[in-house]
Amino acid sequence: MQTKHIDAVVELQHSSFPPPFDPALHWKPEHLLRHLEVYPLGQWVAISESQVIGSCSNTRISEHAWNHSASWDETVGGYFLEGFDLEGSTIFGLDISVHSSARKLGIGRAFYDRRFQLAQAGNCLRYGTVCRIPDYYRYADQFSPTEYVRKVQSNNVIDRTLTPLLRYGLGVDATLEDYLEDPESMNVGCRLSKLLQGVAA
Ligand SMILES: CC(C)(COP(=O)(O)OP(=O)(O)OC[C@H]1O[C@@H](n2cnc3c(N)ncnc32)[C@H](O)[C@@H]1OP(=O)(O)O)[C@@H](O)C(=O)NCCC(=O)NCCS
Repeated sequence: MQTKHIDAVVELQHSSFPPPFDPALHWKPEHLLRHLEVYPLGQWVAISESQVIGSCSNTRISEHAWNHSASWDETVGGYFLEGFDLEGSTIFGLDISVHSSARKLGIGRAFYDRRFQLAQAGNCLRYGTVCRIPDYYRYADQFSPTEYVRKVQSNNVIDRTLTPLLRYGLGVDATLEDYLEDPESMNVGCRLSKLLQGVAA
């Protein structure tokens, strides 16, 4: 990602996280500019025919932030990434968005391959993230969040976000209630990680 891509990335946020997701929670240009200052190596776009069709934002955080944070804000230090730690143990995935016209073509997988490479190249212990489970609201009267995630893991239920992320080889660590503001996910996040060969900082 470069500064010239920022407007297109913001636009992609709007189409990738439509209502009922609160548009006030999308990246704003000043956030993305700051990400490029803080950690340019971890900000990427996918381009096709000169158009931005995918974006992917990452930060690097300490082992303590990974293990002990109660909210997304606390984990990464808010939208301006004040928790960034160049020596941290964990590459933390902030966002991945692929335009709806370009989904299921492997672009998400290509971003994930790059995420794992970034973690390995930086001698990180792991790649980790907390993802939405946006189809949970359809099942919330039947299953607890943990039961729902198990159903997705066993392929009995498809979740439009968790299903692809599991296909990338991430393991489920926990379900976190009241972790994010997301009506479709019923404010539940699913904490996922992949351990990589490296040295914990
Ligand atoms: C989640 C997202 C990034 C996936 O990107 P993508 O480029 O479409 O995914 P890929 O093409 O790499 O697909 C990977 C695998 O998941 C499967 N998959 C992708 N979307 C799926 C869906 N909606 N339902 C079922 N399976 C799906 C693919 O078929 C593929 O399976 P395979 O490994 O067996 O071949 C994309 O759907 C997206 O941008 N969603 C909106 C934004 C979002 O929710 N981001 C995540 C925030 S936590």
